[in-house]
Amino acid sequence: MTREETVAHILKARDHRPQSCGTAFAPVNIALCKYWGKRDETLNLPCTSSLSISLNPLGADTQVSTKEGGHDEFVLNGVEIPRKSTAFIRVSEYLDLFRPHPDTKFRVKSRTNVPVAAGVASSAAGFAALAKALDNLFNWGLSRRDLSILARLGSGSASRSVSEGFVEWHAGKSANGMDSYAERIDCEWPRLAVALLEISVEPKHIGSREAMARTVRTSQLYKEWPQRVESDIEKIREALRTRDIRQLGATAESNALAMHATMLDSRPPVLYWRPETLSAIEKIWELRRSGRDIYFTMDAGPNIKMLFDWSDFELVENQFEPNKVITPFGV
Ligand code: PMV
Repeated sequence: MTREETVAHILKARDHRPQSCGTAFAPVNIALCKYWGKRDETLNLPCTSSLSISLNPLGADTQVSTKEGGHDEFVLNGVEIPRKSTAFIRVSEYLDLFRPHPDTKFRVKSRTNVPVAAGVASSAAGFAALAKALDNLFNWGLSRRDLSILARLGSGSASRSVSEGFVEWHAGKSANGMDSYAERIDCEWPRLAVALLEISVEPKHIGSREAMARTVRTSQLYKEWPQRVESDIEKIREALRTRDIRQLGATAESNALAMHATMLDSRPPVLYWRPETLSAIEKIWELRRSGRDIYFTMDAGPNIKMLFDWSDFELVENQFEPNKVITPFGV
């Protein structure tokens, strides 16, 4: 199936007559059990399921409207994004999927409140907010499941950003991806805190798309990954049922380390860590040895996201001076 066919399948006979504009908010998310590896690179279909926490109130607020003639416009945080940039091309190619007529162009205005230096990718929130804003603009009234599938076409992890709280993205099995969507897990955890610790702002030497593909192609360890994910998701679900920070944190941390191990096992190897990443990890492990339940996770970059109970807020603030601390459910 192509991206166009996926969209046609979801929108079926729905009208393409736009309102004056559509707006929506979507949160950023971080995976506690990672999405790493695609079985279909066009439709962003993952090899395995994944499970995340949405970091409300951090996210993207997006407004979209149509215009006749000219070209698409994409304004991010008040700055017009140049038409030749990768970011613009990615958004414009995504919008191609939704044009009522070939010469209908879109104006997209997006604002993110994610601290620039926090090392949290805002593209997941961006594509989820855009899919929701388009739904609003055309008055389609799509289900969350369909919105998740549409967001996935922009970026895999965006499928999880259409919902708040804990979210599981079911990998699905079908070639058309209609069973690959994210769903909210029924769990509130007001005391859960996430700290964002920026380690480096240098551009990545390799993007996650390429690193994933290389891992799937060349890593021996990756063969173990699907089984690993299955057992980690089960452990996380159990931790959510019992609000067990120790089990949640230990599983999320170990899952992130296993993902990075598959990258290291790739040829040529992929290593996102910086010396400061390792120092922060050693500090976290030292605190753990002294009995504190502070854990971390990491994505395709050198930055650290810490997971802990709200009672450790001051300790984390003093020891790490994080860029931001979030309580996704409010304390
Ligand atoms: O959705 P992408 O292409 O940005 O990939 C995200 C990959 C990780 O952030 C490393 C893991 C995840 O599940 O979010």
